Amino acid sequence: MASTSAAGRRASAGARPLARATLARRHRAKSIKNAIEATSAKVTSSVATETRKDFPILNQKTESGAQLVYLDNAATSQKPNQVVDAHMFYYKDYNSNVHRGVHYLSAKATNAYERARAKIGKFINAKTDREVVFTRNASEAINLVANTWGTANLKAGDEIILSVLEHHSNIVPWQLLAERTGCVLKFVGLTKDTQELDLDELRSLVNKKTKLITTAHVSNVLGSTAPVREIVKLARGVGAKVLLDACQSVPHMKVDVQALGVDWIVGSGHKMCGPTGIGFLWGRMDVLETMPPWMGGGEMIADVFLENSTYAEPPARFEAGTPAIAEAIALGEACDYLTKIGMDRIHDYEVEMGAYLYEKLSAVEGVTIYGPPPSRGRASLCAFNVDGIHANDVCTLLDQSGVACRSGHHCTQPLHRYLNAAGSARASLYFYNTPDEIDVFIDALRTTIAFFRDIE
Ligand SMILES: Cc1ncc(COP(=O)(O)O)c(C=O)c1O
Repeated sequence: MASTSAAGRRASAGARPLARATLARRHRAKSIKNAIEATSAKVTSSVATETRKDFPILNQKTESGAQLVYLDNAATSQKPNQVVDAHMFYYKDYNSNVHRGVHYLSAKATNAYERARAKIGKFINAKTDREVVFTRNASEAINLVANTWGTANLKAGDEIILSVLEHHSNIVPWQLLAERTGCVLKFVGLTKDTQELDLDELRSLVNKKTKLITTAHVSNVLGSTAPVREIVKLARGVGAKVLLDACQSVPHMKVDVQALGVDWIVGSGHKMCGPTGIGFLWGRMDVLETMPPWMGGGEMIADVFLENSTYAEPPARFEAGTPAIAEAIALGEACDYLTKIGMDRIHDYEVEMGAYLYEKLSAVEGVTIYGPPPSRGRASLCAFNVDGIHANDVCTLLDQSGVACRSGHHCTQPLHRYLNAAGSARASLYFYNTPDEIDVFIDALRTTIAFFRDIE
């Protein structure tokens, strides 16, 4: 944490937001001098310079007339022209249902859809593309595991270990499973000094009743990375499975499912330059093969009789009905796009940018940043609060300067309660963001804080 003022955090937790219109009016009426002083050397290498032309959406002014600075990438990333074109091209050139027709268009669509599966498989180093199941998003992928493997394998008294930093998508499906089966959820807390998953506490919770350990690979609020190797070792020691929520890792670093050694990972297309409405579950083939179906319908069957049915092998077993064909194809294109830039380059650039963001933000008076310092290897995002100013107010005024940050609980209410914060503001970067945009953000934040201190 950059600053740990308890009073400040209480103030942030308790402050009430002002009306958006009031804020905008008062802000426009008052011109506040730019207070920022450049204090450190900027990031030099720039993946952003190379890729920026592919994202024309970033070249726009917002309602207030300011240049858009998009720093809400943890919620959803922007899509490059190549991905938008691939999506459109399917509808313009070969729209047809997949797997069901022998005609030209259907064969073309089926090939493209299955090629996309193979691209995702290669992107995460799956042993075979049949280990990749298309879902609507990461949430659906977690629900799929809970409803199939979970329902078939867990009974009253069995234990699932999660952590307090999980996204709601990796809490609620397990709560629903616990209601159905009587299994018990146990939550690991954070280390006091660095606010990372507390491995010692995890060790103390693992026992022979543990059937699953699941956590976010990278936290969407703290920016911390889970100690996957240790988690897998602990799980294997008691025969438990491991599910990794890779929503915030797959878009930003090389993720190799074989090297990770987990049983499942889940990802969301829209956070990795792909469209909304498409995500994936990767599962080791020997695990997927043991999982019963969840949703019934076309595509997932082997034979249907009036009395009963038999089911297809994975991944078809888990893809009932007409899938999101254009979205899957465009996600495959997104994997190509990211691969072409190079995931290691993206990661290196983001490490530099993340450290620059952290350094600049922690130099702003009254700011508390959540999560570990960059030396612990944090992701290129900062969730933060400003003493005495509500996060919604901070982000409303940042928006007046064109800076798009997110405020709220970021689908992590338990984590925010744990941190004693009602919510937080969050700036999250992607490879197309520039150091100048971080400066604009910090500048706008200082202006925002000065504005509020002025009217106090
Ligand atoms: C860590 C994490 N897990 C899960 C999700 C859920 O993703 P989706 O809403 O695409 O299912 C998100 C999205 O914000 C996330 O950041």
